Order: sequence, then C-alpha cells, then structure tokens
Amino acid sequence: MAKVAVLGYGTVGSGVVEVLDTNAQEVAKSAGEAVELKYILDLRDFPGDKHESQVVHDINIILEDPEIDVICETMGGIEPAFTFEKNALIKGKSVCTSNKELVAAHGPELVELAKQHNVSYLFEASVGGGIPVLRSINDSLKHEKIDAITGILNGTTNYILTKMDKEGVGFATVLKKAQDKGYAERNPEADVEGYDACRKIAILSSLMSGKHVNYEDIYTEGITKISIEDFSYARKMNMAIKLLGMCKKNQNGFFTMVAPFLIPLENPLANVNGVFNAIDIHGNMLGDVMFYGKGAGKNATASAVVADVIDITKHKGHHIEVNMKAENAQLSPKDNAVRSFFVRVPENKADEAKEIFGSKIEVIEGENVHGEFAFVTDMISEKDFEDRIKKLDSVKGYIRLY
Ligand code: NDP
Ligand code: HSE
Repeated sequence: MAKVAVLGYGTVGSGVVEVLDTNAQEVAKSAGEAVELKYILDLRDFPGDKHESQVVHDINIILEDPEIDVICETMGGIEPAFTFEKNALIKGKSVCTSNKELVAAHGPELVELAKQHNVSYLFEASVGGGIPVLRSINDSLKHEKIDAITGILNGTTNYILTKMDKEGVGFATVLKKAQDKGYAERNPEADVEGYDACRKIAILSSLMSGKHVNYEDIYTEGITKISIEDFSYARKMNMAIKLLGMCKKNQNGFFTMVAPFLIPLENPLANVNGVFNAIDIHGNMLGDVMFYGKGAGKNATASAVVADVIDITKHKGHHIEVNMKAENAQLSPKDNAVRSFFVRVPENKADEAKEIFGSKIEVIEGENVHGEFAFVTDMISEKDFEDRIKKLDSVKGYIRLY
C-alpha cells in the first residue's frame, strides 16, 4: 500500500483526492498496489467534507510520518511550496506537482535533490493540464532529436480568445467565466500577460535541451492587447488568433518566445478551442506529433497528478530520470526569426505605413471596422519589424503571422 499526502486542497488538490477516491481500483491496478490518501495539508478546515478528519495544518506531521511515500504539492506559488518540496525529498519522499511556477524556477535543483535521495520528482500536470506530454517527451520520444515545440499552453487565454471570436464577448466578462470554472491562476495576470505560458514553454524547452531554460530570458507577450476588431480581420484572412509558446532550434542554439499569432485555419492549432491545449513536437525522425486535451480545470489536471503518483509507486525505491540539468541554456535572440506581421493604424496613417513598410504590404479590409488601415507586411525579421514599427506612431495593434 502506498500512502499519499496532498498539499493544498483547492481546485487541483481536491481533484487529486477525487480521482484517488473515484478510480481507486484502476489506480491500484496500474500502480501495482493500493494508493491511499493519508493527509491533506491546507490552511483551512473543511467541515462536512468526506476527508475532514485527514486535514492537517502542520507540514511536519507529513514529513515526519515514515508511512508517507508520495507528496502531491498542489498549493502553487514559490514559498512555502519550495521549502516543503525540498524537505520532503530530503526525507526520502517522492514529490509530484502541478506547480509550474516552482518547476520553471527550481525544477533542475529539485530533480537533482530527488536523484541524491533516490526518490522521484515529477511534474506532468505543470504543462498542458491533463495532457500526458511530459511523460511522452521523457519516455516515448527520448530517442528523438526534438528540434521544435509549439503549443497552445494556457487554457484560460484560449478560452477567452475563443469566446471573443465565436461569441463577440468582451475580455473582462470571459475572464470572470474562466475564473469561475477554476481555469485561471490565483492572479489571472499570469494567464493573460502570458507569464503562465512562458513558464510552460520554459519547462518544455528545458526538457528538450536537457538544460535549464530560465523563463525570465523568454520574450513574452500576452493577449491583453487583442481586441474584437482583430477577430474581424482574422476571419477575413481565414485565420484564428491563438497565444502560442514556441521553442525552435536554429544555427545559434535555439530561441523561445510567447506571443499571440494569426494561424491559418488549415493548421490544426487554429482549431484548438476553449480550455483545450495542443502541443506540436517535431522530432528529427518522427516529424510532427501533436498532443491535445484539456489544459486546465480540476479533474483533468488532477488526473495528470495521479499519473505521476502511479509512476512513482511503480518505481518505489528507484529514481525516475528526468532530462533537466542545472546548467543554464543559452537562448539566441528572436531577432533573426522571419515572418509577416498584421498591423492596424488609424486611416490617416495609411501613407506613412506604406512608406515605412514598402509596397509589398497586403491591405486587409475588416468586417464592420471603420476609420483604420490594416495590412500584412512582407516577410521580415523580428528586428527589422521592431525598427520599422517604432517609426509609426498611433499603432492600434499588431499580431505575428504563423
Ligand atoms: P487553488 O488556489 O484553488 O488551491 C490552492 C490551495 O492550496 C488552496 O486551498 C490554498 O488555501 C492552499 N494553500 C495555499 N498556501 C498554503 C499553505 N502554505 N499551506 C497549506 N495550504 C495552502 O489553486 P489551484 O488548485 O488552481 O492551483 C494549484 C497549483 O496547480 C498552482 O500551481 C497552479 O498553477 C497549478 N495548476 C492549476 C490548474 C488549474 O486548472 N487550476 C491546472 C494546472 C496547474 P487557501 O485557499 O486558504 O489560500
Ligand atoms: N491557469 C492555467 C491555464 C492552469 O489556464 O492554463 C493550467 O496550467
């Protein structure tokens, strides 16, 4: 019998408990032994809850209990989660977590600590909610030379963009719905400003490179500047607007970024809607493989945490290798990446825009959008675009084309 403690009885933590209850037989069969919840750590009490008697408020009760094999950290944030996880690993307890903020900041150190103490540190739920993408990179794709990962990595923003596009609903209203559904981070700025997707692409690119990609080095734009008008133009261009995280190998190593992109409808990523995420991985032999599923929410995310609990239980007494070393990865700047850009300026700036971006621009007419001039640039480098857009004042917005 494996005994588990869950730290943080919120959206994900309560989901983990529910999966362990509901699928107890399946979990036991898969793990090779029964998996039993012993403790729940939270700040609050949960009177009337089925597991009320298992709630504790002192982490040391869990850390000092030799029966506890696995700790699921679903509290979120850096501290005290980091200290709790470190102490658990030092005490010889394996840890699994959905906490991408912590994994992106300290993942390699925690993996190394787990190795030193012959236990495991797994974090499947930290990227793509319920999608088993990290396990696939760590296992089925281990023999591939992965040269690109591109994904819709944030459920909240994809839900917001989908609702804005399909129902014309304003940003703030949809964000509130995403929060009510338990998709959004405690501070939803992490979702809408792209920070959450940034941490997830940092984790993915760390696994791709085997080094530590510092999320602070990743160029990041969120979706707060995307307007209802942008969708009107996107429809005219047969494209969808999606927040993408990407990591691509190039001659100088690799570059990684997070930003909204206009994607042609024939690309499968354009058809990933609502809270769903999708991650395209390109391997040198495999070509493209795409992972798709619910990227946020209680049960989907909890299912991924429980998958780690099972893996850990199956490998009791062994450390599960994770390809994430402490050595810092060198990222090359995005400056040389070449693409087209969609730009909107006030109508009276049309001549200026044509002068700055040249005659090869393609003018786009939006449906029911008036008083502005919109166009798609020729293929130019990020650096070139940055230099030219600075010369245009009153830019209403721009979006990269994928
Ligand atoms: P919630 O805020 O719903 O849950 C966190 C829980 O942890 C709360 O019950 C909170 O208590 C408790 N908690 C906070 N600090 C402590 C502490 N020091 N000691 C004990 N308990 C504590 O967050 P989520 O479940 O949504 O997210 C948890 C983690 O999972 C985050 O890292 C998040 O990024 C990640 N994640 C979330 C997903 C989702 O869809 N929600 C999906 C994938 C990952 P209180 O409320 O009283 O503060
Ligand atoms: N807030 C995150 C999202 C939760 O919306 O994708 C899942 O990591």
